[in-house]
Amino acid sequence: MKILVTGGAGYIGSHTTLALLEAGLDVVVLDNLCNSSPVSLSRVEELAARALTFVEGDINDRALLDRVFADHSIDAVMHFAGLKAVGESVAEPLLYYRNNVAGTLTLCEAMAVANVFKLVFSSSATVYGEPGEMPLHEQLPTGSATNPYGQSKVMVERCLSDLGAADPRWSIALLRYFNPIGAHSSGLIGENPNGLPNNLLPYISQVAAGKLAELAVYGNDYQTVDGTGVRDYIHVVDLADGHLKALHAIEAATGVAVWNLGTGVGYSVLQIIEAFEKASGCKIPYRLAARRPGDTAECWADSGKANRELGWQATRGLADMMTDTWRWTRQNPTGYP
Ligand code: NAD
Ligand code: UD1
Repeated sequence: MKILVTGGAGYIGSHTTLALLEAGLDVVVLDNLCNSSPVSLSRVEELAARALTFVEGDINDRALLDRVFADHSIDAVMHFAGLKAVGESVAEPLLYYRNNVAGTLTLCEAMAVANVFKLVFSSSATVYGEPGEMPLHEQLPTGSATNPYGQSKVMVERCLSDLGAADPRWSIALLRYFNPIGAHSSGLIGENPNGLPNNLLPYISQVAAGKLAELAVYGNDYQTVDGTGVRDYIHVVDLADGHLKALHAIEAATGVAVWNLGTGVGYSVLQIIEAFEKASGCKIPYRLAARRPGDTAECWADSGKANRELGWQATRGLADMMTDTWRWTRQNPTGYP
């Protein structure tokens, strides 16, 4: 079986590409490298002791997509390619809608012409907005995302749901990720943010590595265990495993299925700092700061549906997530060369 992985050079895509190769599947990666390095792919090949095919290019390039499908006998697509910085999406909404929404439509059009109808899409827990109940389960309404990045995920979910309803040849998995962190246990691949990190773990890692002076903790007056924001952090290797299981599930099905991928457990920012300090032996200096606009107090998954229908469950705990993040940072203090 041959899988086209869009965005496969990125953080989640590289870990999933490795899992696919390790499972004996063939992989073609299409990535324009706008937020990644091709070194991630050579490291994936080294870890898997297998080769993959890399095509540098954009999902908005229809002629290129047609060529990729003509040159390779693709059975299914895993679609990670997209932009993901919330603040940037507020400043540049058209860029986000063009890349994430229009890019996905172009990909689906090319897939249909090539007779490829199996698609696994990277969605996000952000589609739930702030529904006022926890844990978040797949039947909750979506659509209240407060920024263009989140809206782009809501829109793509809508488009893909309509597509699946209109044409029974399609079999589509919408995977709603909670907060992916961690890295492969080799320390060879991991998250490699460009510039100042927006997300908690990349920021903490850079403080630990001495690149940033201190962490700002955004808000300590939420109605949570210690006042700081609570999230469901999931190890990226568990997430990659969820993709493999979703792929197998849609092989034999048609229609559109939605699965949350989280652990079901929430940790606060202060709990994360403490766990990271324990795993790394580094002190993380921090200061309490104002809430970050758009943040919710807490968020964690009900992943029972993925457990029942895919036989999937996250197996790596917080200590593994911290140890693996720190190993990756220590071995690659400036990211990929
Ligand atoms: P990432 O930026 O590391 O990976 C995305 C990859 O897509 C990058 O390699 C980038 O170069 C590529 N890309 C972007 N636009 C492209 C285009 N037009 N054509 C070809 N390649 C393109 O991000 P990630 O964390 O690995 O996220 C992967 C997917 O998962 C994204 O769709 C993201 O929105 C989604 N997601 C991520 C998170 C998270 O916390 N990391 C949470 C929920 C959902
Ligand atoms: C953010 C995005 C979300 C996106 C996800 C993955 C927002 C509002 N949400 O999720 O849409 O899908 O990233 O890209 O941006 N924190 C600090 N200090 C920091 C960074 C974060 O205290 O320097 C806190 C946050 O307030 C939050 C927690 O850490 O409580 C996690 O933040 P983050 O890693 O950015 O993830 P989300 O906000 O959950």
